[in-house]
Amino acid sequence: MTFNALKEKGISIDKQLRSWHDIAHRHFNKYEVDCYSRTRQILMNGIEVEAWNFKHNIARISDDEELCVFLAQTKRLEDAQQTTVNWFAPADQSVLETTLGYEQVAVDLTAWLAQNEPDDYVRETFNFGLLEDFDHLYRYSQWAYMIHGINPDDIVQGQTDIMLGRPTQNHHNCNVLRLRKHYDKNTASPQTKVNILTLVSGEQQTHNYYAEHGFAYGNETLRETYAEIKDVEEEHVTMYESLIDPTESIYEKLLIHEFMEVCNYYTCLRDEVDEKLKLVWEEFLAFELGHLKVAAELFQKRENRDAEEVIGTDIVIPCHFESQKDYVKNILLNEIDKRLGTDNDYSKIDKLPEDWASYDIQKAVSKDGSPTEMTIRLISEAKKRDIILADDKLKKDAPKLLEKGLEKEALAPDTVSPKEYAEMAKYEFEM
Ligand SMILES: [Fe+2]
Ligand SMILES: [Fe+2]
Ligand SMILES: [Fe+2]
Ligand SMILES: [Fe+2]
Repeated sequence: MTFNALKEKGISIDKQLRSWHDIAHRHFNKYEVDCYSRTRQILMNGIEVEAWNFKHNIARISDDEELCVFLAQTKRLEDAQQTTVNWFAPADQSVLETTLGYEQVAVDLTAWLAQNEPDDYVRETFNFGLLEDFDHLYRYSQWAYMIHGINPDDIVQGQTDIMLGRPTQNHHNCNVLRLRKHYDKNTASPQTKVNILTLVSGEQQTHNYYAEHGFAYGNETLRETYAEIKDVEEEHVTMYESLIDPTESIYEKLLIHEFMEVCNYYTCLRDEVDEKLKLVWEEFLAFELGHLKVAAELFQKRENRDAEEVIGTDIVIPCHFESQKDYVKNILLNEIDKRLGTDNDYSKIDKLPEDWASYDIQKAVSKDGSPTEMTIRLISEAKKRDIILADDKLKKDAPKLLEKGLEKEALAPDTVSPKEYAEMAKYEFEM
């Protein structure tokens, strides 16, 4: 069945104002919520933050009166949507529990997008980022256990593996190397445009969450771990946003933004198992169709061409969540030693030039040690073992993977060696 968003009626923007009670009263139960309802809730918060922020940014650079009226009307509506979605998280969900949710979003969303991405280069970039967020989930899982005594599986519910990926200390790059080649707005498919903008929104909010919450814990190594991973999320925003064609006009960008919101709410509504969330997705889909209608009219007036030329005639499914263990495992086994090349491409550790620009960055930021390495040392001290939640074959491969994934040229002084790691990995995780 096709769903042409431009032909759907939706709710007009003058009927979208809601009461404080309606905006703020809903929340889920952290013990009962399905992990993929939580990932939808986390992602859609990021999408709304981007919607609000983007509108403020173009309002600051445009003197088109009709555009500014639309922006003024809908900035407040996007903002209220953000509150409703974000505040679904209950007050008793800790920062680390929420953090595991953020990284589960990153892993399972990126894996889904990669498999549904028609552009090979964009897909390769998604796969590259995937292995970094996969490693973040592992490092934060150690902390969720050490600080709150929880089993990380209480959050990811067995849907996402927890084990090392490309080691976080090797995610710190020269940000110029992170810049990718952008798609061509005239030939890229609507799927590519929506995929990238969805992921940029998610990564940006992950960065924001760590920036706003990483200081919530007194433990010095945990603070530094948040600082270290937050900086990687900054690199991820830089990398993914550089895939977007910067020559799209603000009308075209606005059109893609509203369409991206429509597609994500459409997917959430289609997949949702939580009745309370489902009602919100349904209402907000209708709201976004109302935004899209005005954005499409503005685009058509200013650019003299059909909105369908940009966003097509059918919906895109950007955020379907399901277990991606097999997909991620394959990337993990084959790409852990992949690195950013010097020509907007990709390389392998053993092919990097001696003067690779990221070595200097890694040596500088990890001069006093890498907090994400110290994380593993701390749990090793306390429990003499590591937390790995994956199948037995992957568990057995972990020390070998670490050996393959570490850059010998820029090791942090506190790096856990593959030999030390092999000792820890011998024992089963126990609560
Ligand atoms: Fe919105
Ligand atoms: Fe991450
Ligand atoms: Fe990320
Ligand atoms: Fe919107």
